[in-house]
Amino acid sequence: MTLESTNELPSTTLKNEHQVILRTLVVLERLANRSDSGDGFEHEAFAKAVEFLKLFADACHHAKEEDLLFPALEARGIPREGGPIGVMLYEHTVSRGFVSEMGQALEAHATGDTGAADRFVAAARSYISLLRDHINKEDNVLYMIGDNVMTEDDQATLCSKFCEMGCKTFGGKKREELERIADELETAWPG
Ligand SMILES: [Fe+2]
Ligand SMILES: [Fe+2]
Repeated sequence: MTLESTNELPSTTLKNEHQVILRTLVVLERLANRSDSGDGFEHEAFAKAVEFLKLFADACHHAKEEDLLFPALEARGIPREGGPIGVMLYEHTVSRGFVSEMGQALEAHATGDTGAADRFVAAARSYISLLRDHINKEDNVLYMIGDNVMTEDDQATLCSKFCEMGCKTFGGKKREELERIADELETAWPG
């Protein structure tokens, strides 16, 4: 079952996506700890996690918020500048920077750059911390504000736009394939 196969509230769809992202952050943190304790830098697993974060967290989830949810909230009077939407947008930008740093560090690591593992882990830890806090704010503040200000029609329109976006591919991969990457990482690196 896809996340959008039911007529659930758009905020529920986004919260469910948060749970997939949070599961991947647990694995990323576990792998970062392995690297720091000298048990090995798992290049392939890190590359998988970065691919997931680029395509699922950013191209799919953050884009859904930026292109669909936030404009709907602005239309109901939630300000972009000086309000929660502005903060969320800023944090999306910062998070993209960390993902980019992780990608660059992975490339450098593949060429034998000895400092690349530490740079990767530092960027990963910054990303993990930012995203956990960001998700907590969206789940417990912004989405609740949104559900309070949006009308039933707003919710239905947003729901159908989410479904349209959910049918797209991201980097050539469907949503289900991206969710499978998260599952595979969890299976390969259990706690
Ligand atoms: Fe967000
Ligand atoms: Fe989010």
